[in-house]
Amino acid sequence: PHGHTKDNRGRHLRDLRISVTDRCNFRCTYCMPKEVFDNNYPYLAHKELLSFEEITRLTTIFASLGVEKIRLTGGEPLLRKNLEILIEMLASIRTPAGNPLDLTLTTNGSILRKKAASLKAAGLHRLTVSLDGLDDAVFRKMNDVDFPVADVLDGIAAAQETGFQNIKVNMVVKKGINDHEIVAMAKHFKGSGIILRFIEFMDVGSSNGWNMTEVLPSKEVIARINEVFPLVSAEPNYTGEVAQRWRYQDGTGEIGVISSVTQTFCHECTRARISTDGQMYLCLFANSGFDFKTLLRSGKTDLEIANAIMNTWATRDDHYSEIRGSHTADQSSGGRKVEMSYIGG
Ligand code: GTP
Ligand code: 5AD
Ligand code: SF4
Ligand code: SF4
Repeated sequence: PHGHTKDNRGRHLRDLRISVTDRCNFRCTYCMPKEVFDNNYPYLAHKELLSFEEITRLTTIFASLGVEKIRLTGGEPLLRKNLEILIEMLASIRTPAGNPLDLTLTTNGSILRKKAASLKAAGLHRLTVSLDGLDDAVFRKMNDVDFPVADVLDGIAAAQETGFQNIKVNMVVKKGINDHEIVAMAKHFKGSGIILRFIEFMDVGSSNGWNMTEVLPSKEVIARINEVFPLVSAEPNYTGEVAQRWRYQDGTGEIGVISSVTQTFCHECTRARISTDGQMYLCLFANSGFDFKTLLRSGKTDLEIANAIMNTWATRDDHYSEIRGSHTADQSSGGRKVEMSYIGG
């Protein structure tokens, strides 16, 4: 087979998001609410996780089919033991044109101070840190495990000191909970070289009790910042970029907004996702995945697996954000959607 397969809506397969653990040391209310993710939660057993060899093999096959960007996610990816070894393995993969993959990771930053140097040495290209507020009380409320904001800021500083370029910070905005932190966040990262992005609170999973009334539209985010620090809109870096870019008029950098609720971007969605246990999901909001772990463990050849990926992708018709209602998961999709900590956001 060869790359550039289109799905049912003409979209190519370009990005792969791989969840390396379904565990996290935070309990962000919008992602892993405490009441659901308690001591009794059935996390995956070690043997159910894809091994580093399996992830590397699968990624190599995806790369042969046209995937250019890999994002490691979780749960909290830095909690996966020896993650640096996996990064080293993935860093040696080449695209058909002979280029390395764009290798990146989304982390909550809690142990980044400890890990930044080894991640860089292993060959990680860039990283994104989630941070939902600067005020310590607000941040502790968002992570819901009383984690201090100072440690995440220190993790970000460590990544900068290590020489990471293109660091991004993601802030999920929940109206009435942390939206008063928007301008302070903008001010803090302005001029730092770090790209801050504001994410509309989404109805992922089935347990975060999503409701449209808690979404602050990105338009409003931009308006609030623009009042204090004038902005001008910027062109996307590539087609299908999830964030819309805005530049500070005074030349001190850029921010982004990810508006998956108010301005959907399904029409150019090139992303596939691999869950912690090797299911391929065609959409963040899919009800179920395709079992590639069993394929990987059943003696199939690379060619057979490549064909299975392409056949699966070819049937893809997902465009959930375009058809969601204004209420929570269960009500609008009529079924239990996969949790974000398992599929990796
Ligand atoms: P860059 O490579 O830096 O452009 O990364 P990215 O924006 O694709 O990745 P990141 O993990 O930082 O994602 C930012 C936010 O966008 C997260 O909240 C994701 O859940 C969300 N997101 C990413 N891809 C999709 C998608 O395909 N659909 C929806 N609805 N949300 C997405
Ligand atoms: N809505 C929007 N973003 C979310 N994330 C996790 N859950 C949600 C949600 N319900 C974000 C995380 C992280 C990224 C991968 O996804 O904060 O930055
Ligand atoms: Fe953990 Fe990230 Fe989910 Fe928060 S959003 S609970 S840090 S995986
Ligand atoms: Fe892609 Fe699904 Fe997100 Fe739409 S909702 S952009 S199809 S992952």
